[in-house]
Amino acid sequence: MKLQIFTVASIVVFMASSCGSSKKAGSSAEASLTPGDAEVKAIQGKYADVTLQTLNEGYAVYSGPCTKCHGQKNIFSRTEQEWEKAINRMAPKAKITDVQKDALWKYVLAMKAARPNQTK
Ligand code: HEC
Repeated sequence: MKLQIFTVASIVVFMASSCGSSKKAGSSAEASLTPGDAEVKAIQGKYADVTLQTLNEGYAVYSGPCTKCHGQKNIFSRTEQEWEKAINRMAPKAKITDVQKDALWKYVLAMKAARPNQTK
């Protein structure tokens, strides 16, 4: 079972990295919010079990249920603490599961960890 999950995750990582390279040419602001290998690497020191699949799930929540009432809230202008509070407050509003909430939290942390100097 564990091996199966690992295999699926590797395939996702492989697919994402191969299509990532073809996308690089026209990197828009929106594309820069898409998690990749750099974000996985940046978060693994804190959460060793995080895969690209986790971060993709988090991004799906961030860009899906979390935009029902307002636009995508800026990741980089808020501290980890502010995000923790906001996610705890917003998760019931967005009616997301605990798994989705966890993925969202790791996605936000990974994005921030991969770009420590970005503030907006
Ligand atoms: C049902 C509507 C609704 C949904 C769904 C929703 N929000 Fe919000 N959100 C609001 C409103 C209204 C505010 C502004 C008032 C406030 O801060 O409570 C807000 C404010 C925020 C803020 C700014 C708060 C701060 O203190 O900086 C962040 C960040 C945020 N939302 C993130 C999210 C995230 C992440 C999700 C998905 C889990 C989400 N929101 C889903 C209604 C919603």
